[in-house]
Order: sequence, then C-alpha cells, then structure tokens
Amino acid sequence: MGFKNPSLFMIFSSLCILYSFLKLTKADPWLLVNQTSPSSNVSGGNWQLLQSSVGVSAMHLQLLPNNKVVIFDRTDFGSSNISLPPGSFCPKNDCTAHSVLYDVVSNTLRPLHVLTDTFCSSGALDPNGTLIQTGGFNEGDHVIRTFAPCGADSVACDWNELNATRLVDRRWYATNQVLPDGRIIILGGRRVFTYEFYPKNDALNNRKSFYLRFLVETRDPEENNLYPFLHLLPDGNLFIFANKKSILFDYKRDIVLKQFPLIPGDDKRNYPSTGSSVMLPLRLSERWPPVVEVLICGGAPAGAFMKSDKMKVFVEASRTCGRLKVNDANPQWLMEAMPMPRVMSDMILLPTGDVIIINGAANGTAGWEDAVNPVFSPILYSVNAQLSQRFTVLSPSKVPRMYHSTAILLPDGRILVAGGNPHTTYVFTGLYPTELSLEAYNPYYLDAKFNSLRPSIISVESGSTVSYGRRFGVSFSVSLFRQGTVSVALIWPSFTTHSTGMSQRMVVLNTASVVQLSMANFKLVVDGPTNANVAPPGYYMLFVVHSGIPSHAVWVKVM
Ligand SMILES: *[C@@H]1O[C@H](CO)[C@@H](O)[C@H](O)[C@H]1NC(C)=O
Ligand SMILES: *[C@@H]1O[C@H](CO)[C@@H](O)[C@H](O)[C@H]1NC(C)=O
Ligand SMILES: *[C@@H]1O[C@H](CO)[C@@H](O)[C@H](O)[C@H]1NC(C)=O
Ligand SMILES: *[C@@H]1O[C@H](CO)[C@@H](O)[C@H](O)[C@H]1NC(C)=O
Ligand SMILES: *[C@@H]1O[C@H](CO)[C@@H](O)[C@H](O)[C@H]1NC(C)=O
Ligand SMILES: *[C@@H]1O[C@H](CO)[C@@H](O)[C@H](O)[C@H]1NC(C)=O
Repeated sequence: MGFKNPSLFMIFSSLCILYSFLKLTKADPWLLVNQTSPSSNVSGGNWQLLQSSVGVSAMHLQLLPNNKVVIFDRTDFGSSNISLPPGSFCPKNDCTAHSVLYDVVSNTLRPLHVLTDTFCSSGALDPNGTLIQTGGFNEGDHVIRTFAPCGADSVACDWNELNATRLVDRRWYATNQVLPDGRIIILGGRRVFTYEFYPKNDALNNRKSFYLRFLVETRDPEENNLYPFLHLLPDGNLFIFANKKSILFDYKRDIVLKQFPLIPGDDKRNYPSTGSSVMLPLRLSERWPPVVEVLICGGAPAGAFMKSDKMKVFVEASRTCGRLKVNDANPQWLMEAMPMPRVMSDMILLPTGDVIIINGAANGTAGWEDAVNPVFSPILYSVNAQLSQRFTVLSPSKVPRMYHSTAILLPDGRILVAGGNPHTTYVFTGLYPTELSLEAYNPYYLDAKFNSLRPSIISVESGSTVSYGRRFGVSFSVSLFRQGTVSVALIWPSFTTHSTGMSQRMVVLNTASVVQLSMANFKLVVDGPTNANVAPPGYYMLFVVHSGIPSHAVWVKVM
C-alpha cells in the first residue's frame, strides 16, 4: 500500500496514533490472583540490631567487594549525628559526616568526607568494583563521585569527586545500570528526559546525552516516573519501566524496539508512587535464551501523592504485584495480590532465587511527611510456588522504615536494613523519628535447624575469576548431602536508594556435574555465564545453594 497523496497519509497516520492511544488508555478488565492459602511454611526469620546509630540516615547503600558498605545521606540540611575525625577537612564548614563506611564483618564504621550534595542520587559499581556515584541536588547535581574499595588499609580510602569530568545533564532521581561493555548508563531524573554514559571518554558518544521520549510520556502531574526501573536483559537490550508503561530499548542504536502492555489497574509504580522491581533469576541450565521475568510490587493509586502531599490524606497503597515474561512472543502481566498494601518497599533477590519485600508503608506515598502506617513485616515471594500460594508474611521488625529507608543482601545471606527519614532535617521526636539505626533481617534459611544442609564453600577453582562460558569447579562441604539439589548462583551487589535496587541481578549457572570428593566434601562443576549480556563484567557474590539453603558467598570477578 502506497500513499501518493500526503494529506491522505497524514489522516491515516493520525488515525493510527488515535487508535493506539485509545488502545493504550482503554481500561481492559483484568484478573487479580488473590492469596487463598499461606505459602510454604518457612519460619518468619528474625531481626538483629547491629548499630543503634551509625550517625547518618542511610538514604543510599552500596556493598563493595571487600565486604564494606558505603552508606550516605544528603549533605544539605545541617549536622548529622557523627563527627568527622578531629583535625580533618570540614566540607562547607560542616564538621559532621554525611557518609560512613560500614564493615560488615567487624560491625564497625568510620566517617567519610563527601563534598557536594548527594541528595537522591544514583550509582553502580564499575567492573573494577569501584562505586561510580552520579548526581544529587544543587551544586551536586552534575557531579560524578567515585569510591574505590581499598584493601587492608581501610583508613585511607574516601570519596573522590571528579572535578574535571561532569555529567552532561543534571541527575536527581535517575537510575543507573552497568552495561555489558563495562560502561554505566545513567537514565532520567527530575525534569530531565535523557540518558548518558560513564566513563566520559570520547569513544561511543560518551560525552553526549540522548533524548528519550518515553521519559516525557510517562511523566504525569505527580511525576510518577522518577527512579525508573531498569533491567539489562540477556539479549543486550534494556527493559525500562516508568509509571505504568514499559519498553524494550536498544540503547546502542537509540531505538525503542517494543512497547509492553500497560500494567493493569490504577496504581502507579515509580517515585513518588514508589513501588519496586526485580528481574527474576536468569537460569542458564533450562533453555537459551533463558526465560526473563520482571516482578514489580507495590506503589500507589493515581492521585495518592496529591492527596498525601497537599492534603495530608493518606490513601491505601497498592496491593498488587505484576509479573511479566519479557521475552514471551505476546507478554501479558500476571497480577497477584500481596497480603497487604505497600509503598516504598525494597525488593531483594535472595540466593535461593525467591524475593523478599521489606520496609515501606501501607498508606500514602514517598515525599516529606507523606506516609503513615508503616509495614513492619517483610514478605517472602516464592517465585516457583503455586499461584495464590506465593506470599508468606515474615517476622516483623519494631522500627518504622518508610521514606528514605534502604535494604540490601549481604554475602552471608542476611539483609542489611537501614535508614528512614520522612523529615527535611534530622528530627528525633514524634511518631516517625529520623532513623539512624542499622538492623539485619535474618531469613528462615539462616535458622540453625538447617545447619546440616548448609553448604560451606572451600574454594573456587579458577581463583576468584570466572570467565564467560568457561567451565570451573567450586568445592564445598555439607554434612547431609541430597543429590540433585545443588546449584551455583551469582548475585550483583545493587546500588540501593528509594526502593530501587540498581543493577541488581541473579544468574544461576548451568551445572555440569557434582562429584563427591570425600565424606562431606563435594565438587560442583559449572559453566561461567554465557556472555556479558547475561552477566556484565565485575564483582558478584557466588553462593552455593543446597537443598534450598545458601552458603555464605565468596566474591568472584566475572570477566
Ligand atoms: C481478588 O480479590 C479482589 C478484591 O477482593 C476481587 O475483586 C477479585 O475478583 C478477586 N479475584 C479473584 C480471581 O477471585
Ligand atoms: C510444612 O512443614 C511440614 C513439617 O515440617 C512439612 O511436612 C510440610 O510438607 C510443609 N509444607 C509445605 C507446604 O512446605
Ligand atoms: C542525635 O543528636 C541529637 C543532638 O545531639 C540528639 O538529641 C539525638 O538524640 C541524637 N540521636 C541519636 C539517634 O543518636
Ligand atoms: C580497572 O583496573 C585496571 C587495572 O588497574 C585498569 O587498567 C582499568 O582501566 C580499570 N578499569 C576501569 C573501568 O576503571
Ligand atoms: C579538583 O580536585 C582536587 C582534589 O580534590 C583539588 O585539589 C582541586 O583544587 C580541584 N580543582 C578544581 C578546579 O576545583
Ligand atoms: C489507610 O488506608 C485505609 C484504606 O483507605 C484507611 O481506611 C485508613 O484509615 C488509612 N490509614 C490511615 C492511618 O490514614
């Protein structure tokens, strides 16, 4: 069919646009799967107070490959509750620290010097395990900062602000993802409809930023598209979700390859209607390409932010999760009801392959003083359980952690839980005081009753490096071995803020064989990840999982 007449062509294409608009905005009836029975009878786990105060409220967390966690807040509100070392440089005449380095193994910390404002910023580890942290607010919004893990001498390492190299656009509420070639993409942010790359060398257009219309289309009067969800897929493209929409995006050619169906229902999923998102584990033993599923839980209905922010009326948060098989020929969202409404929760991939949903509130949205009714109980989402039996409510904490709270997986399988501050400054009175404490949530698999099933890694044959497609051995011991229940999982340590686990991913390697070496010692032979699209180069926690019980991880470098 050819259009010789340009006006006919214009009418035709307008009709097409109108049709697709109607199609996208029409509210299709949708099915919600409700929980009918409690899922697996795992125990509720338990909570452990690690530090009653680390001196800063942990708005951002990054675990480094030396088992230290960089914790930082914003810098623009005055004093924190921890001083910089006497005699050291005080940025902007503020001699309190807004960042600390927490040592997971010794449960100790020390203050760090961060110079410019890191408020609502983003980050990712580069392939050398250095934190590349981008943007923030005011004078910090174009700044690139690095934090390199240092060895035994941890006294020396501190923040480094690159002052010759800056971001092209301001990045406040942006999302980062490490890429297969080791670059980092930095996408979106408040009133910024572009993406750009780090490092800022001349190659590959790294000195420019690129307009992305999707970021305009997904912005509504409440925004609801900040901290977009970003997942690198095994085909090398990006899955990008914001508000209620999602696309398959080829960042190398700057083209949108596909638009996924709208997530059903009225709920918005991104800041300030903050939900959370994970890409479920990529299982390399099953088929190629592996099934890719994205799970998005929580958020808030349209209008909720206007009500909470302007009227202090706190409507119920979203109760639903949407699960999408991204590489299906005709992907459709499967909607499941959580046991309770949640906004501002974190979603964390466990080494078992299941998901923990933790922190957050049942009413309101993100924003200053914009939520009430904290949700104290984490929930376990059992990825492979029967429909309507996937959620288990776990043991509650006593500490409200809503706006500006964080949580990440630690190499020993615990969840580090931190932060929470709905106020513009540090306020230690009232219902939801600024939270400076650090807790660990210990999932059921850490219960002593599983000790006989718990594997313990003895060594990684390849000497802590894992090459793409290359076979290698992992030896471990376990007292009660069950044939056919053991696997190796790699987990990338996310940069976490505002319920967004940036670059979080889990890859379950293909097992070639399991050999018994002695009574309690075994060798698992596995294949390195297929390629850098499956597992971008860099440091991962390697877990052996036996009979559903994970080992402590060792760090490996995938290259
Ligand atoms: C799930 O519960 C909701 C709200 O109670 C209801 O509208 C919906 O029909 C239920 N779904 C199913 C499949 O029963
Ligand atoms: C629950 O626990 C009991 C006893 O440990 C066990 O027999 C049963 O299979 C478990 N059920 C599920 C659904 O895991
Ligand atoms: C933080 O410091 C303030 C002022 O010194 C103090 O009142 C408050 O109790 C401290 N908060 C915590 C949690 O340590
Ligand atoms: C990583 O470290 C190596 C060796 O020190 C260096 O050559 C390389 O440039 C670094 N890569 C990045 C991305 O910083
Ligand atoms: C760049 O940073 C270095 C080290 O922090 C500092 O000494 C120098 O003055 C800075 N230069 C500019 C132009 O800000
Ligand atoms: C939370 O939302 C529910 C449902 O709309 C409402 O009944 C309840 O009063 C709200 N709670 C608060 C503390 O505002």
